[in-house]
Amino acid sequence: MRILVVGGGGREHALAWKLSREAEVIAAPGNPGMAEDVEVVPISPKKHLELVDLCKKREIDLVVVGPEDPLIEGLADVLRENGISVYGPGADGAGLEGSKAFSKQLMANAGVPTAKFQTFTDAKLAKEYAKARFDAGKSVAVKASGNALGKGVVVAASFEEANDAIHQMMVGKQFGIAGEKVVIEDKLEGPEFSVLTIVGDQNFVSLPIAQDHKRAYDGNKGPNTGGMGAFSPVSWVHDGLVRQVEETIIKPTLAALKDSGITYRGTLFSGIMMDEGRPHCLEFNVRMGDPETQVIVARLGNGFMNALAASANGEFIEEPEVLQNAVVSVVVASEHYPILSSKGSPITFLEYPVGVKFFHAGTTMIGDQLVTNGGRVINATAAAGTLRDARKLAYRAAAAVSFKAARFRTDIASEE
Ligand code: AMP
Ligand code: GLY
Repeated sequence: MRILVVGGGGREHALAWKLSREAEVIAAPGNPGMAEDVEVVPISPKKHLELVDLCKKREIDLVVVGPEDPLIEGLADVLRENGISVYGPGADGAGLEGSKAFSKQLMANAGVPTAKFQTFTDAKLAKEYAKARFDAGKSVAVKASGNALGKGVVVAASFEEANDAIHQMMVGKQFGIAGEKVVIEDKLEGPEFSVLTIVGDQNFVSLPIAQDHKRAYDGNKGPNTGGMGAFSPVSWVHDGLVRQVEETIIKPTLAALKDSGITYRGTLFSGIMMDEGRPHCLEFNVRMGDPETQVIVARLGNGFMNALAASANGEFIEEPEVLQNAVVSVVVASEHYPILSSKGSPITFLEYPVGVKFFHAGTTMIGDQLVTNGGRVINATAAAGTLRDARKLAYRAAAAVSFKAARFRTDIASEE
């Protein structure tokens, strides 16, 4: 099988690395780390027709789309119209991530447990609603409805903070058109985990559970980021809890999509928060998690490629083999991520410990020199027999990544 992986971040590096064990993989545009593992072709995910051409010329059997943007922009539709098999939903299904307003409404219609919410296009009404929720003794999360790279959510501790966030999103256009509509929802309280589900026409299969660390600094302080590290397994998320998520969240959502005439083939990523002992859905994403994927693929044995291909082709999805190991990934980021990214600082690796894989998230080449090219730069990922050993190894690896003002959280997987 010949597979095209679309994208060039840490998640795509992990996907390409894993799939290259079972298939011939080409990546577009890829990154320098991916170029060490697979063939990379410099085509942007925005160039839908160039990607169609590439698929035809290289006789690609399956396209795996990594990031959400191309899915929201309809890349999967264009590929399918050209007879190409794709893992990833069309623009209609991608609305689950592209519009929080759509996603929350679908959850409400389907009876999926989620935080109480309202959607606004008028800043004044939004502020009044937030005020009313604080007056009723609640806190709120303010969310830009559109796609804001995981940064469009402010969990506000006070009305002033909520008011500010609404103002910046709706009046200050902090996230451009993504913030013209906002969702304001009650704050939930509890631990979080991510469920990544491979969805097809006949069935679905959830992958091993991973937990992400979203805040920028140790002790879950600082702003929300795309994710500062992840680990799997998550001991407290037992099988029964996963089945509960499948029954109360995933099945009704898939049924609601079907009722709306949407054929969904790809990943349904459910961001779950436990609140009053029950799983609630905070959000859906329509692609795999980053950096969750980096740990999940290292926990899978055979059958991952077949599962993605079965989803893409509308066939029955067999569960991939899950290894009895533990994996930790530490994101080595630039100093001011998520506020600023880093560009052009030379990167060196002081050592390559056995059992470690450095997935490249934000790197590029200047001449022969590997340099930083983003906020999240390298994902130091380690597998071992236990989480404790994987953690130790991942931290040794993270410390071996050297570039100007490199930084990482020191408490990834430490609560387990
Ligand atoms: P989202 O992009 O909607 O998943 O939000 C990003 C992060 O913000 C989540 O992973 C949570 O940590 C936090 N968050 C979002 N919504 C809520 C909520 N209703 N209550 C508490 N925290 C939330
Ligand atoms: N790590 C969270 C996400 O991929 O959205």
